[in-house]
Amino acid sequence: MMTKEELLEQAFEAQKNAYAPYSNFHVGAAVLTADDHVVLGANVENASYPAGACAEATALNAAYSLGYRKDDIKMIAITSHGDTPARPCGKCRQIIRELAGKQVPIILSNRNETVETTIEVLLPDSFGPEDLLK
Ligand code: THU
Repeated sequence: MMTKEELLEQAFEAQKNAYAPYSNFHVGAAVLTADDHVVLGANVENASYPAGACAEATALNAAYSLGYRKDDIKMIAITSHGDTPARPCGKCRQIIRELAGKQVPIILSNRNETVETTIEVLLPDSFGPEDLLK
């Protein structure tokens, strides 16, 4: 299986493809699957600002579009270039909570500093599919 460091490198590569002319804040994401594939994403902004997409949502949505599902997602790396590693926004926490397992390692890095966390920590006491009426 790919190491955290290798997955982070892939995310830094994806970060180069960020389309962020409004914020100039470039984010990359790499999702590792059980069959050792890596699905990449970058943030893609829009002149209508709320229509922009975050890197981690792009990568996870791409993985699902390829047919991967929750149990296939083994690790998520997210890279950025601010003073501290960017934490996923609230909307992305909810997306990760839906699409990846609660204890999947989420690795955040800005090269100077690397933090490892989980969605269980980032989004405690959350709402999910099992809370909907059946
Ligand atoms: N952004 C991400 O892509 N992921 C994060 O975890 C934090 C924020 C993007 C959204 C927007 O394009 C830019 O960073 C500035 O907020």
